[in-house]
Amino acid sequence: MNFNNKVILITGASSGIGKELALRFAKEKCKLVLIARRVELLDALREQVENYGSELLTIKCDVTKKDEVKKAVGLTLEKFNRIDGAILNSGVGIKQSFADFDSSIGEQTFAVNYFGIVYFLNELLPILKKQKSGFVAGMSSLADTRGFPVSGFYCSSKAAVTSLLESLKAEYKPFNVKIISIHPGFIKTPMTDKNDFPMPYLMDVEKAVNIIFNNLKKEKKVIRFPWQMAVLTGFLKRMPDSWFQKIADKDVKH
Ligand SMILES: NC(=O)c1ccc[n+]([C@@H]2O[C@H](COP(=O)([O-])OP(=O)(O)OC[C@H]3O[C@@H](n4cnc5c(N)ncnc54)[C@H](OP(=O)(O)O)[C@@H]3O)[C@@H](O)[C@H]2O)c1
Repeated sequence: MNFNNKVILITGASSGIGKELALRFAKEKCKLVLIARRVELLDALREQVENYGSELLTIKCDVTKKDEVKKAVGLTLEKFNRIDGAILNSGVGIKQSFADFDSSIGEQTFAVNYFGIVYFLNELLPILKKQKSGFVAGMSSLADTRGFPVSGFYCSSKAAVTSLLESLKAEYKPFNVKIISIHPGFIKTPMTDKNDFPMPYLMDVEKAVNIIFNNLKKEKKVIRFPWQMAVLTGFLKRMPDSWFQKIADKDVKH
């Protein structure tokens, strides 16, 4: 895939992986549409993006609000007249506590991680289908493989994203629309800076974004990394349920 001069939309571009992706795509001389609630952080990237020779549109949008998402896609079309690719990356990882079940954390998590993607797909898919070209990459996680203790809402939101994207792949293939899922392990960003548990194979965000970028370029449909965590979670996924449960039980310290 060649990104030169292409219209690329990125959600959650104000921080972490999304911000780094924005700067990486800017080097390709794209027409970039950056989306997040903290629009001032998006605007702060303008000089750097334009110095690389890319055009920039920043949009303040809460991805949990269907009307704001619709408006954001409308503004993109108004400015650039088409959309070639979207990376739906906005996400939250809200701390849960042992044995204190709180449905509001589930609602907030699914609102951003799952419906933040669903609402964009609702607007983007008809456009890409009509164009008969383009891609949508959704941000899942290697945490989609199992229900890890104290991360139930996060894991289930990412499993839902993976499943949704997988089902769309075949449906949109005849329209030449590529559906891609991205599954990082632990990446050093403001999201993981809050974690107080060990994060094996924690990767720098620049390295992570290079892996994502290079695999998008190669048109890979499923992007899992770092490879050590991909192997480990692949093993956990295939493990008999009773074995996984023993590992999970050991993980829970009351
Ligand atoms: N870091 C990791 O280890 C890791 C691993 C696997 C998957 N991921 C996934 O990668 C994605 C990016 O995470 P990150 O680590 O880069 O985290 P981050 O630095 O906390 O960035 C999260 C981004 O999501 C945006 N966001 C959150 N709520 C939003 C909302 N309601 N509307 C619009 N945008 C919203 C934030 O923008 P505003 O606050 O400005 O709106 C921010 O730009 C997430 O989907 C995450 O689940 C991360």
